[in-house]
Amino acid sequence: MSTDAIVLLKEDHKEMRRLFKAFQDAEEGPASKRQQLVRQILEALTVHTYLENEVMYPEVRKLVPDVEDDILESYEEHHVADVLCFELFTMAAEDERYNAKTTVLMENVLHHVQEEEEEWFPKVREALGRNQLQEIGARMIELRPKAPKTPTAPKALKKSLDAVTA
Ligand SMILES: [Fe+2]
Ligand SMILES: [Fe+2]
Repeated sequence: MSTDAIVLLKEDHKEMRRLFKAFQDAEEGPASKRQQLVRQILEALTVHTYLENEVMYPEVRKLVPDVEDDILESYEEHHVADVLCFELFTMAAEDERYNAKTTVLMENVLHHVQEEEEEWFPKVREALGRNQLQEIGARMIELRPKAPKTPTAPKALKKSLDAVTA
């Protein structure tokens, strides 16, 4: 099995696309089924985000200054997804906004994943050697079992709320 960081992250993206498709197919179906799929989506996103935030993004930011702006944009896109994930996690599948929120989450994630895969992962592959990408990937594999599996309230959001209520 390859430990290439980009290969691993793309495998995660593929699984996300599969789960998104499954949700779309179940959109008119029973709440329990939709809830189950959303829980799977939230787990996949929480683990993936953790690995990108803890390993891939800081490492790439350090090693490939050219993609600094892409990384900063990624943090913001992840933040938006984190907010939606946390809201969905606390919401009942019967809520009239459940499907709509899931759809907006999926649209946001698909946009973000496309930017990673088409715009800046190729630059990273060009800038870093095979060995470096394999080392980064190996660290992600090692960290994966420790990744949280359920969303928590986004820290940045909490900070803004504290600032306006202080
Ligand atoms: Fe990402
Ligand atoms: Fe990603």
